[in-house]
Amino acid sequence: MDTRPIGVFDSGLGGLTAVRSLREILPEEDLVYFGDTARVPYGGRARETLLKYARQDVRFLQTFDLKAILIACGTVSTTCLEALQAENDLPIVGVVEPTCRRALAVTKTGKTGVIATLASIRSGAYEACLRRLNPQVEVYGKPCPLFVPLVENGRTRPGDTVIETVAREYLEPLLEAGVDTLILGCTHYPLLTEVISGVCGSGVALVSAGEESAFELKRLLRDRDLRGDGSRQGEASFFVSDTPENFEDLASLFLQEDLHHMARRVDIDQY
Ligand code: DGL
Repeated sequence: MDTRPIGVFDSGLGGLTAVRSLREILPEEDLVYFGDTARVPYGGRARETLLKYARQDVRFLQTFDLKAILIACGTVSTTCLEALQAENDLPIVGVVEPTCRRALAVTKTGKTGVIATLASIRSGAYEACLRRLNPQVEVYGKPCPLFVPLVENGRTRPGDTVIETVAREYLEPLLEAGVDTLILGCTHYPLLTEVISGVCGSGVALVSAGEESAFELKRLLRDRDLRGDGSRQGEASFFVSDTPENFEDLASLFLQEDLHHMARRVDIDQY
């Protein structure tokens, strides 16, 4: 048994989709979450900038005695995973491979869409992973740069004409290509599940990056004998690099928990 916490990070709110899955799948584990809300969005930035930010995020999380880190960010997973794994001794899990494995298990036609940030699509990481796992697969990638700012501003609900118009514009080319499976390759996007499935219809299966990586982490902890104490309920602590208030309001809504006065601010430039 290992009762040390798991570190989880993202550019902002999106990684909470992974936190929600972790709390269902690994309820006994303590979590330390960092959202880099002062520097969100990450998705349009150069790899060097992302690496600098990701290293600082990991250094902050490493001030806790962690047993593993989940990169609950598609953008960091697609661009920095290998570097972070090489530089750190503890196990670090990203979202790309678990999500691709799930998508390939779900697709019937082999036509798989990937929506993600510009940096993730530009990296080609989802496409390369899908093709490595199944060379026959047809992959259609689409960057959706407006989704993250809209989610961070709470524009996630069906009936909101701004998010619905943007979603239609991004998703229609993928529907025309005939995809039957769509990877939500950015951890912010599951917050748009209702809007996205409203546009895509029931013929397209949605695969969410955060959830699949939580299952991957569970397997890793079991294989390395790192599971926590199953007789207790784990706790989560939240840290952000900008003001906690905005984060707490949206995060409370999303996690269905009262987070008021629970998130703490960190000066990430110190790390
Ligand atoms: N949620 C992150 C991702 O999965 C980052 C999005 C962003 O900050 O642009 O890609």
